[in-house]
Formats: sequence, C-alpha cells, structure tokens
Amino acid sequence: MRQTNRAVLMSLALILSSATGADGAEDAVKKQIPVDNSTFRCVSEMTAVRHFYVDNLLGNLDGTVAIANSTTGGVYPPGSVLQLLPTEVMIKQEPGYNPVTKDWEFFELDVTPEGSKIRTRGFMEVVNRFGGNCFACHVKAKPEFDFVCELDHGCDPIPVTRAMIAALQHTDPRCKNAGPLSPEDTEALKQLQALSAAPPPGTK
Ligand code: HEC
Repeated sequence: MRQTNRAVLMSLALILSSATGADGAEDAVKKQIPVDNSTFRCVSEMTAVRHFYVDNLLGNLDGTVAIANSTTGGVYPPGSVLQLLPTEVMIKQEPGYNPVTKDWEFFELDVTPEGSKIRTRGFMEVVNRFGGNCFACHVKAKPEFDFVCELDHGCDPIPVTRAMIAALQHTDPRCKNAGPLSPEDTEALKQLQALSAAPPPGTK
C-alpha cells in the first residue's frame, strides 16, 4: 500500500514538473538535450526511412535508423528526431526524462525560407494547430513501437494521405534543393487545400 502511494505521488510529481516546463531547476538530475530553433532543418535533408525522416542530435544516427527500420519495433535511442510533416517533430530525451511520454518531447514548428521557429513544445500538453494533442494520439501506438504510429500501430488516423504528406515534404520552404513540383504533388496539394477548407472530419 505504502509502495503504491509512493508510485502515485512520484508519477504525479513527474506530470506536474513536465506541465510546468521540463527545464525547471527541479529536473537538475535528468539533463535535457538542448533544442532550439536552430536544431531543425529542411526535412528532406534528414535521413529518409520509407515515408518519414529521422536524425539523431547525439550522433547516433545508426541507432535511430536501425529502430526505424525494424519491423518488430524497439526503443529509439536518446537524441532521435522523427518527422513526417515539416512542422511536427518528436525528439527522444534522455532515458527517464519523462516516463509518461517514454521520453518523447513533441514540437510544432512554424517553417519559412528563413528557418524554423518553435511554436509549441513539451510533453503531454502539446496540441497542434488543428487542435490535436500529439501525446493522446501517439500513446495509442502498440508499446513495442515506442509511440510511432505509422498506419497500422493502433493510433487514431490523420486525414492527411501519404500523397499529401510527400507533397508537403517536397515543398518544405526551408529546403534549398526544391525542384519543380511533380503533377502528383500538385494534385495532392490541391486535395489538401480542399480538405483544409472543409470542416475537419472527426474534429477533436
Ligand atoms: C489524430 C492523431 C494524431 C495527432 C493529434 C498527432 N499525430 Fe503524429 N501521427 C499520427 C499518425 C496516424 C501518424 C502516421 C501517419 C502515416 O504514417 O501516414 C503520425 C505520424 C507522426 C510522425 C512520424 C512517425 C510516426 O509516428 O509514424 C511524427 C514525428 C509525428 N506524427 C509527430 C506528431 C506531433 C509532434 C504531433 C503534435 C504536434 C502529432 N504528431 C499529432 C497521429 C497523430
């Protein structure tokens, strides 16, 4: 019983500390991997794994790519950066940093030709510009996939198709290497525009 109370208190303390900003002095024990606007770059200059992009802020790109390529899942190493849309990012903090999110920190960015600006960041509380809570969706991924949703890991679907995602990746305004748009990308962007003009299906 005493044990249980202690566990509850500890997780409550963790929830509170992450809700008040994880870089508070009380987190002195667990070091946070520093992330600022300059951390982010043109999505297609990162390493492509199938339909998404990865990186590692601590130099362990091989470790990150290995998990991303594993068909049975695994735990992403600290420093892992994952991106599907140019504006939404997951970064793996040090082990134990935030057990509730399995140490994933969520970011939403504003991206322009001048670079990236962090619009919002954090753990359970981060909501994207469409009103969706990153954690609430990604926590539904089967545990072996470490919060990674793809299409079949158990998360609620997003209304953005893979064709639209590819078009958004190819038109990331931060990229210097952008060539002319393919007819497929042009069509997907048209459909995306129609989608965002309509009321979002299953709005949360
Ligand atoms: C409505 C549920 C939902 C919300 C809200 C949501 N996501 Fe996702 N996310 C998904 C799904 C589903 C995929 C996989 C889509 C695909 O593979 O085509 C995904 C994919 C991703 C990926 C690529 C790796 C993966 O899990 O497949 C990243 C990175 C990501 N989301 C980050 C975020 C961030 C950051 C936020 C908040 C700013 C967010 N997501 C909000 C459902 C969601």
